[in-house]
Amino acid sequence: MAGPEVEEVKSRVDVAELIGRYVTLTPSGKGLKGRCPFHADSSPSMTVSPEKGLWHCFGCGAGGDAIGFMMRVEKLEFAEALARLADEVGVELSGRGEQTKLVEVCSEAERFFSRTLRSTAGKNAREYLIQRGFGENTWKRWGIGFAPPAWDSLLKALGEHGAETLEKLGLVIKGKHGYYDRFRDRVMFPLRDPRGREVAFAGRALSGNPKYVNVPNTPLFTKGTLLFGLDAAVAPMRSQGRAVLVEGYTDVIGLHEEGIAEAVGSMGTALTEAQARLLARYTNQAVIAYDRDSAGSAAALRGMVVLRSAGLQVRVAQLPMGEDPDSLVRAHGADEVRRILDEAQPFHMFFLHTLAERLDVDSLEGKETALEEARVLWQDIRSVPLKHELGRGLARLLQLPEEEVYGALRSGRTKVQPVEEDTEPSELSLEELILHFLLCGKLPEAVLSELEVRDFRPEYRPIVERWLELWRAGAAPSDADLIGELPPQAASRAARAALLDVRLRDEQRAVNDAVNRFVVLPRLELKIQELGTAIAEAEAAGQRDKAEKLTSERAELCRKRALVYRGRCAQRS
Ligand code: UTP
Ligand code: MN
Repeated sequence: MAGPEVEEVKSRVDVAELIGRYVTLTPSGKGLKGRCPFHADSSPSMTVSPEKGLWHCFGCGAGGDAIGFMMRVEKLEFAEALARLADEVGVELSGRGEQTKLVEVCSEAERFFSRTLRSTAGKNAREYLIQRGFGENTWKRWGIGFAPPAWDSLLKALGEHGAETLEKLGLVIKGKHGYYDRFRDRVMFPLRDPRGREVAFAGRALSGNPKYVNVPNTPLFTKGTLLFGLDAAVAPMRSQGRAVLVEGYTDVIGLHEEGIAEAVGSMGTALTEAQARLLARYTNQAVIAYDRDSAGSAAALRGMVVLRSAGLQVRVAQLPMGEDPDSLVRAHGADEVRRILDEAQPFHMFFLHTLAERLDVDSLEGKETALEEARVLWQDIRSVPLKHELGRGLARLLQLPEEEVYGALRSGRTKVQPVEEDTEPSELSLEELILHFLLCGKLPEAVLSELEVRDFRPEYRPIVERWLELWRAGAAPSDADLIGELPPQAASRAARAALLDVRLRDEQRAVNDAVNRFVVLPRLELKIQELGTAIAEAEAAGQRDKAEKLTSERAELCRKRALVYRGRCAQRS
């Protein structure tokens, strides 16, 4: 496939906008640059030229045009990548009959299942749904239907399209004696693409096993690339500034029906990179709301790392024991669920808590196990600031010196990158960014009076201490004065931080953001945690009034925290 259609698509696509959905691009020379998504890129080695419609990575050599980028980043065939982009820019492609036909058949299958649910055959399914609290309006919104028990209901109803077509869609299976329906005696949930078109189905058993049957990979649907409910969640995610990630189909539906419509479902499997990237197109914050048993599982933790790597802030909600989001919203209502979601902890804090809950962190063995588990996670984390937050938190939890903890976390890494990441000048950690702003006199007074020397790693402390000393004495220190006065090692660090090549599109915003992450949020987090302990103590001592007062104090702080998070999202979009 080449020729005028392809050229037309390429000329209409803005390659910088396309790549910008996956990578933060900053202006550089005539074009833009950013960190290459196709290899572990610690400095921005990828160049994008909107003018030429091309991109190239000087690190790994990958490069090409918009279609090539789409193919690589979404792991698509040429034709699929082209089709997607053509769709977006409104170019009609010839030879897309097949795809369009399949989508039509899918939606016809959805109508068949919906009809059946409302027919005599659907009685048990209707009763089941109603007893679960899903009424007719819900069926309609979600296209819920029913596949009758017979082996050939769908085959007959949609026979005119040919069994091969139905097989392509995963709706029928070819056996020794011919074709038969894949879904029998099941409540049917259509899976929709982000634009709301039915592309696949999941069927839940009314009784018996397996509980869910899903279609296999088809030309319309690849496992692990969709999120359940995404099409309905797009607008709410934007307005709420976050996505709520749940496991089950019924969790998504239950939450949406109660007005928590920013919920999407990972559909049982561990979250994939493709799902994380998909989510990252719509929001930069994910709140995980899995039930307790699965939230702390290795698969769930890995999923959280995957979300982080896609550039999302990840927080984890603490659901009461034995509840999933659907049961919770039914039993306690949306307000209570929103409260729990707002109180979700940042991912690394959640991880540290699971360690503290599961292990005796005072014992030598407990400490070793904790370090080992953290190391596995650490290896997956690409964000330098997050690594430091985890390292710092772990040192506090295990009561070990930070240097030792970092050493232990790093030593597991066999090859490349480990230490360079910290010294690579273009890779700024949050701490360095703050230091940079401090030395350039960009931090507001209110922040300066809050800043503490021990917020920083030991190697930076002398610089911060001296700077704050001069500032308190009213000396408004300049970099040069300061650097001249410091001992040689600290001086070279200060020089580096002051001169760091920080090119920011909106400096004020970057300062606010860094201050929130470095100062405001950690302080709030600590207070919330302390209040939690104080509340537990007051309750244990039977001091109900005190416990109540502290609880409302904590709620107030959680609200504040949610505001700060939301402020950050609002700023970015
Ligand atoms: P759950 O067992 O929690 O299912 O699995 P659920 O959707 O909450 O269903 P109810 O409430 O019992 O009706 C969570 C998710 O795991 C996947 C599905 O995506 C399900 O929604 N799953 C579970 C499967 O794919 N197959 C299974 O057999 C079970
Ligand atoms: Mn459930």
